[in-house]
Amino acid sequence: MSIAKSSLVAISRLSWKLRVSNKILKKSRMENNLKKDNNNIDAANLKVLEDLSGDWWDPNSEVICLHSINPVRISLIRDELINTGRIKAADRNKPDVLKGFHILDVGCGAGVLAEPLARMGAKITAIDPSEVLIKVAKEHLGNEPLDIEYMVQYIEEHSINNPEKYDVVIASEVIEHVPDQRALLDELSKCVKPNGSIFITTPNRTLISWFGMLIAEHILGILAKGAHDWYHFIRPSEVEKILNEKNCKTVAVRGIWYTPFFNIYNIIRYAGMHYGLHAIKQENKKNK
Ligand SMILES: C[S@@+](CC[C@H](N)C(=O)[O-])C[C@H]1O[C@@H](n2cnc3c(N)ncnc32)[C@H](O)[C@@H]1O
Repeated sequence: MSIAKSSLVAISRLSWKLRVSNKILKKSRMENNLKKDNNNIDAANLKVLEDLSGDWWDPNSEVICLHSINPVRISLIRDELINTGRIKAADRNKPDVLKGFHILDVGCGAGVLAEPLARMGAKITAIDPSEVLIKVAKEHLGNEPLDIEYMVQYIEEHSINNPEKYDVVIASEVIEHVPDQRALLDELSKCVKPNGSIFITTPNRTLISWFGMLIAEHILGILAKGAHDWYHFIRPSEVEKILNEKNCKTVAVRGIWYTPFFNIYNIIRYAGMHYGLHAIKQENKKNK
């Protein structure tokens, strides 16, 4: 068989697989494969994350990716705030570049992102439904004088008492773990101020990310088995559509790429593996 012909066969097989996986996806979404309790938590998924609690601050453990992705997600947040004019470009490398920003870190886990953001001058309110993980976060923070308030709290409770309070609301590597993703996005949009920013980072739902997850879990061992369900990954266009209904306009979707062996993340144009999305709450309309 010629190279051209065999390439065509391979491509048609791949697209057939994608169509099948999308059919399975629709079915599994109808069956709600992440089991939601009253607080939009999937208890089994949370248990996998809690079982790793001793490892969260070990950069060589199965949560290595959360540490390796930190430089990229932090620079993405800072650069997007520069793009909106809320940080001066000349201040980009200032050690306290986030001074004056009150940030809500939703699903903060053990504080792997909250701590460096606080070191850059931000005031952080960090919430997570897991008592176990908040305990790890508090212990790791110890007596370091950072402006972080950790709370065991559901976003649904938090949004009632803190409407339109935050300059920035972040859910980083969280939405793929939440059964009702629409409800999560709704709550995030309630907490952010008008003109404030929402940042989501999460894996995309593509054939590439399916392969990526398989390799990361089963070959490289850099993702905890059972912590992710590919069928529950969400595409940037889906996040954008839901946020738009909540009067939050997506202003950027940046691709995030992981290179194994070098254990490094980079920001690239292609968003098919992983992405960071930035939306801004508009001033003129009320939240739906
Ligand atoms: C992979 S961890 C990410 C932790 C942290 N954001 C980071 O990147 O270092 C996912 C976190 O989502 C939290 N989570 C799960 N369901 C949630 C929900 N409904 N609302 C908020 N957080 C949730 C889990 O407790 C867990 O800490």
